[in-house]
Amino acid sequence: MQALRTDEEIREVNTRYHDVAAAGYDFKWGIDFGKVGQAQVLRKLRKLVGPELDRGYGRALEIGAGTGYFSLNLLQTGVVEHATCTDISPGMVSTLGANARRLGLEVKTVRADAESLPFADHSFDLVIGHAVLHHLPDLGRAFSELHRVLAPGGRIAFAGEPSRLGDRLAAWPKRGAAAMAPVWRALIGAAGVPSAASPGSTDSFDHGLERCVDIHAFAPEDLERHARRAGFTDIGVRGEELVASWFGWFNRALEATADPDDVPMWWRQYAFHGYLLLQRLDERVLEPLLPPAIFYNLLLTARKE
Ligand SMILES: C[S@@+](CC[C@H](N)C(=O)[O-])C[C@H]1O[C@@H](n2cnc3c(N)ncnc32)[C@H](O)[C@@H]1O
Repeated sequence: MQALRTDEEIREVNTRYHDVAAAGYDFKWGIDFGKVGQAQVLRKLRKLVGPELDRGYGRALEIGAGTGYFSLNLLQTGVVEHATCTDISPGMVSTLGANARRLGLEVKTVRADAESLPFADHSFDLVIGHAVLHHLPDLGRAFSELHRVLAPGGRIAFAGEPSRLGDRLAAWPKRGAAAMAPVWRALIGAAGVPSAASPGSTDSFDHGLERCVDIHAFAPEDLERHARRAGFTDIGVRGEELVASWFGWFNRALEATADPDDVPMWWRQYAFHGYLLLQRLDERVLEPLLPPAIFYNLLLTARKE
């Protein structure tokens, strides 16, 4: 995480980085809008809100919506009736619009900075986000905007935020993968990729800016504090994914060293299904037992009175 620039520069770099990432984003992160994706999103929200999920929400706002992972899956499950999806990156907003059209879903898309939302007070019953808070330079401003646009009784629900300790622990499988990569490539018969991609390619652009857009990793109490300061009550923070994240990062780090065309389908299937299996193990055994800080991702919910 780099403390290198002004808030304005951070927003500008986030916009550029995500504009470039938008077209290949769903493939890169394995984002699914079918049954698997829907079940994943529902599981995350249920961990936060419990049985309230079954009552559903009328008007939902998503910040940093990207290509629509959260909102488009929630619309399909019927948990959300009307969705407004915002993002600072025009490229992401346009990819989300295309995904919604392909899925036959109606959604309002708006290009907006999460710290300055172009909506009237009390406009929404639910405000959600996935993997977005850690990109926002001024979290105090963002949380007070979330509070302002929520109707009384409304709720925020965020998932996929990097935990400081979880992030440190995940460095180990990444290092292990770097050491194992030559053997792994020989086993699957894959050619390696040069460590620095050619200048001007999307990859070199990605690698240069990735470190600059991820500006926070959180301890559970950081998220709690931001929510409390903005006036929220009923605040809950949970952790999710431990062994699943180690498995995922190990495989992802291996794959990053190979020509994608050489990675066989059986490997991709193994990595995908193994990850889903370990997610269950985390959820059923480790998440109820261990403190949130140790997990790779943090989830936050809170209510506006
Ligand atoms: C890691 S991506 C997550 C996208 C999506 N929520 C998902 O889970 O697939 C982070 C998203 O936050 C957006 N973002 C970054 N800074 C933002 C800001 N200040 N306001 C609104 N969105 C922002 C990025 O453009 C990007 O689409």
